[in-house]
Amino acid sequence: MESRISGFYRWSLAERRTALAQLLGGPEGELGALDPGALPLERADRLIENVVGVLGLPVGLGLNLRVNGQDVLVPMAVEEPSVVAAFSNAAKMARGAGGFEAQADPPIMIGQVQLMVRDRAQAEAACARIEAHRDEIEGAARAATERLARRGGGYVGLQTRILPDPEGGALLVVHLLVNVCEAMGANAVNTACEQVAPVLSACTGCQVGLRILSNLTDRRLARAKVRLPVQAVGGAQVALKIYEADRFARLDPYRAATHNKGIMNGIDAVALATGNDWRALEAGVHAFAARDGQYRGLTRWWVEQDFLQGEIELPMALGTVGGLSASHPSVTLLRRILGAPDARSTAGIFAAVGLAQNLAALRALVDEGIQQGHMALHAKQLALAAGAEVHEVEEVVRRAKAGGAIAASGVQKALAALRKEG
Ligand code: MEV
Repeated sequence: MESRISGFYRWSLAERRTALAQLLGGPEGELGALDPGALPLERADRLIENVVGVLGLPVGLGLNLRVNGQDVLVPMAVEEPSVVAAFSNAAKMARGAGGFEAQADPPIMIGQVQLMVRDRAQAEAACARIEAHRDEIEGAARAATERLARRGGGYVGLQTRILPDPEGGALLVVHLLVNVCEAMGANAVNTACEQVAPVLSACTGCQVGLRILSNLTDRRLARAKVRLPVQAVGGAQVALKIYEADRFARLDPYRAATHNKGIMNGIDAVALATGNDWRALEAGVHAFAARDGQYRGLTRWWVEQDFLQGEIELPMALGTVGGLSASHPSVTLLRRILGAPDARSTAGIFAAVGLAQNLAALRALVDEGIQQGHMALHAKQLALAAGAEVHEVEEVVRRAKAGGAIAASGVQKALAALRKEG
């Protein structure tokens, strides 16, 4: 779907929705799936426990993204002002240079079965027994993942890991590797772990501990890269500062946490909009960022001749089936807006979104800073928080801005003055 929509942010909400309906090619009424009441209470009551309500969040469209030569409209559910605008801005810079290239590994998830051992010697003996009974164990794993196998996935391998415990003893963990096809895969992998665990226990004589997937999905990485002329980001000096900012995040965990938070601003927003488990993504991404023992930024930016180049690699466990894909009307429509790509293409798109979001943040941070743009948008939130009615917001913000720096007190004063006049 065409992702370059000139002037979109200046249009009214109604105009934006009409344009989106036209792009989707269906009746305008189908956008009702994005209305505040789209998830009825009765439906919500079937999704989790102890339901008392439904939480609304704004959904915006991230524009201008091009991945592997194709336009992608990015639905983003997020409460933070600037995220959607910053993303669209960076995607526009990249678009002029052909956009992003992205790809992802096959969807291999890791399931963990913990086997209780006293020490390393017992762990090694258990590993030898696992090897001796490999056919039996693999047979159980294949049986447990038969439905996935029918779709071209299923069990793909087994690994044993002996972990020394500095406090004494050792830990034995068996990894089941499962191709989960189009699913995020948590349920399939957890089920497989629970079914294979008794076989492992019988073969090794060890008691079983935990049987659960790992959210460090480093068999399922996604990558994106971009190469843009330095002029696109404001010139050679800005490009070099972006390189320095990125180096900062690679060397300093304090900076890396903020750097990666910026990346996840975009990825979480599209994950939430498309009903993906953003907590799982977060857990995987941050564990991966610390894989060599130090927490680091997930990107790499550098300048080569007159080009700024950037790349990102991160675990991306997401699915196009299961979860909320069919049970939440908004999610179903938002996935269509994203173009309903398969899970691997979606992973690549998410990686490109993260890289674009990071480019936007670094570009602003090394130059004008982020507060100026951020506060302008934040002012509208402040006006609503101060009690402004929707029709009063623009005027309150205009007056608060005219009065100087935007802060809650200034916005409150502007609202009081407006009401006094009216
Ligand atoms: C704010 O939500 C995200 C940033 O702090 C990211 C960054 O510093 O790279 C702007």
